[in-house]
Amino acid sequence: METLQEDVQTGVDFLPINGTDYIEFYVGNAKQAAYFYKSAFGFQSLAYAGPETGVRDKASYVLRQGKITLVLTTPMHPNHPIYEHILKHGDGVKVIALWVDDATDAFIQTTKRGAKPYLEPVTEKDEHGIVVRSGIHTYGDTVHVFVERKNYNGVFLPGYEPWKAEYNPTEVGLKYVDHCVGNVGWNEMNVWVKFYADVMGFKQLISFDDKDISTEYSALMSKVMANGNGRIKFPINEPAEGKKKSQIEEYLDFYHGPGVQHIAVATDDIIFTVSELRKRGVEFLTVPVTYYEDLLDRVGKIDEEVSILRDLGILVDRDDEGYLLQIFTKPVQDRPTVFYEIIQRKGATSFGKGNFKALFEAIEREQARRGNL
Ligand code: FE2
Repeated sequence: METLQEDVQTGVDFLPINGTDYIEFYVGNAKQAAYFYKSAFGFQSLAYAGPETGVRDKASYVLRQGKITLVLTTPMHPNHPIYEHILKHGDGVKVIALWVDDATDAFIQTTKRGAKPYLEPVTEKDEHGIVVRSGIHTYGDTVHVFVERKNYNGVFLPGYEPWKAEYNPTEVGLKYVDHCVGNVGWNEMNVWVKFYADVMGFKQLISFDDKDISTEYSALMSKVMANGNGRIKFPINEPAEGKKKSQIEEYLDFYHGPGVQHIAVATDDIIFTVSELRKRGVEFLTVPVTYYEDLLDRVGKIDEEVSILRDLGILVDRDDEGYLLQIFTKPVQDRPTVFYEIIQRKGATSFGKGNFKALFEAIEREQARRGNL
């Protein structure tokens, strides 16, 4: 069982964060990606910026479900810097934006502690008010943008117009971003753990090494960093030596560097959410039915019917504080890179370590099918 690392409260949080503001993907075809997130994942059309709204060089579709906001951006021309990102990484996460009360101070505090600047504080305004944004680099080509929107009541950001769609599939019950996981290179996990600690004031929650997380073939190491109020959790993975290629190494090979591995999104009713997602064509990793035979011996009493969890492929894990239910999608683009986790927490504050073995064996079956094991 993991133990929460005790940390002494040493005063004020120099980087107070209210929550995840948005996650921006750079994609090859934002119009079609938006259709996928609406149809398959139940996101709602929120805002749009592109040639029709005076933005000449790119198009961005903004989707929302619960408190989760996704931005899907595509460039219009091959000499655009976004195109270089897509050429190298394929579709992937560029921005994990964080909602703050003071984006200028967030920039000052983090850059003076060593963060590499990405966006100097910039004030944008329209008839709905003022937004200040700034940004810093993190692992790979990924960045954090700080968004200060306390003086803004528009639909998303200045420059975006409301997106009124005629096609509006219903939501599937996704509520908020629970955590965002980064994959980094060999021997780089501690570099980035130190970055989040020193530059952003995060604390390490849980540590497990490759003895915890390994199967016969492939392994990884992982540490979880969280901000002061615990609303932002960033697990960081690096590959570990195994008999065959680590799933993290496969990611690094196809993403061509470090990047976001998965985004975990929370639901209050995982049975409903996963039933809907499956109906709409979302593909999940599945574990052998034997996983469910001794499930209750492993996790104790749970509210859900085991047969329903088994039919949907939902996994269960317990820690000192309660239990959680979780399931992982297959990658959502052709490269074996970004995927989603659907999670429902019933007290548990951990990340499903008890499921890693069953899960990684499932990932390895997929890796083997791709010829990458
Ligand atoms: Fe996760």
